[in-house]
Amino acid sequence: MKQYIIKGGKPLVGEITVGGAKNAALGIIAGAIMADETVLIENLPNVNDVNVLLDAIEGIGAIVDRVDAHTVKINGAPITSKYVDYEYIKKIRGSYYLLGSLLGKYNEAQVALPGGCNIGSRPIDQHKKGFEALGATVKIEQGGIISAHTNELKGNHIYLDVVSVGATINIMLASSRAKGTTIIENAAKEPHIVDVANFLNSMGANIKGAGTDVIRVKGVERFHGSEYSIIPDQIEAGTFMLAAAATKGDVLIKNVIPKHLDAISAKLIEIGCEVEEFDDAVRVVAKRRLGNTQVKTLPYPGFPTDMQPQIATLLALSEGTSVVTESIFENRFKYVAELARMGADIKVEGNMAVINGVENFMGAAISAPDLRAGAALVLAGLVAEGFTIIDQIEYIERGYEDLEGKFVSLGAGMEKLDVNDERAIKKFKLRVS
Ligand code: UD1
Repeated sequence: MKQYIIKGGKPLVGEITVGGAKNAALGIIAGAIMADETVLIENLPNVNDVNVLLDAIEGIGAIVDRVDAHTVKINGAPITSKYVDYEYIKKIRGSYYLLGSLLGKYNEAQVALPGGCNIGSRPIDQHKKGFEALGATVKIEQGGIISAHTNELKGNHIYLDVVSVGATINIMLASSRAKGTTIIENAAKEPHIVDVANFLNSMGANIKGAGTDVIRVKGVERFHGSEYSIIPDQIEAGTFMLAAAATKGDVLIKNVIPKHLDAISAKLIEIGCEVEEFDDAVRVVAKRRLGNTQVKTLPYPGFPTDMQPQIATLLALSEGTSVVTESIFENRFKYVAELARMGADIKVEGNMAVINGVENFMGAAISAPDLRAGAALVLAGLVAEGFTIIDQIEYIERGYEDLEGKFVSLGAGMEKLDVNDERAIKKFKLRVS
């Protein structure tokens, strides 16, 4: 088990390059097994969630050839099993995309119920409704296994009752090989939905309208091989933007699509930060303590729920009172108790956090409750006076590649150590003091 130790108080300065989008990668890996030819995927983030899904598809017979840390070749031709019973699969949310892809390709699939971060009840009724509309029988069996099967998938008109990223991608996957046309209404519009659609189209799918709330999918009989590069990770980019702002730093964040960051940039500008946009980079400069605002998480293009803990942390250090409303997941304020131990003044009432900004945090020993909350605690540690030790960083490593290396390259005092390695802690403290 590992932990982070951070010596806070240094402004982050320099340049950083963002990796490929984790959530797009999960949909794309699941989609790749639908071809019986080799698919080359580039700009793959080397994070645990992605590696677990690659192990899972290898487990059912797909060929997975890691060309390098960020490139993989996948061939779905030798798949023998449509039953994904892999001990780690429950740990990742993206495993449910194998339901859509296996069902689309083979008319049958069995996958353990998805796990992922414990940030709310995370139902899958919209996925089920979508598969059923395409003609599949879907059962949730004992032991948390979802099974879906049919003789033939047929296109249909599907209206999603809630805007769901997962259901939109899953229905796209399955319907891309169904007979006839499927129309998904009230679809999610996140950048990674567009990326998964573009990837499927590169293999021969016929998907139009991804990125709007009506997606039209004309089923095709087969997919061919493809070469595809995953879009940059909007949330990793946003996390560095807010880290630059919180530490009163000056950071150029490269390999981003600035348009995907609009909601984040707009909030930063509103509270007094400078955000300069380039073709494929953003520069964030904070020269002074920032101001207060209201933030409500919403489906894209609204403010992303995956950035909620990070912006709340920034606002907890800003002047005045801010309000953050979480409207996507009901259990996403678990980091507040940890921030309170560092001196934050945040009161949570229902899905709303009322934040009274404090001048600074004090270093503390804290624990990452989930992936994005963990990233927010790293931000807190980078600002705090003294030393912060963060446990349970395995949550953070599910979605961030070499987070400590990237922050160190921007001047942060941060290291990943074995838990309770007192000698290593002492050494770190001596080195950075
Ligand atoms: C995806 C992302 C996650 C992000 C979230 C919202 C992946 C692997 N994960 O999660 O990082 O936080 O989008 O941007 O891409 N809902 C239902 N029924 C369903 C499905 C969802 O009621 O069948 C509800 C959820 O409880 C939630 C809302 O819809 O309130 C949005 O969830 P959804 O967009 O599906 O999130 P995920 O796909 O799980």
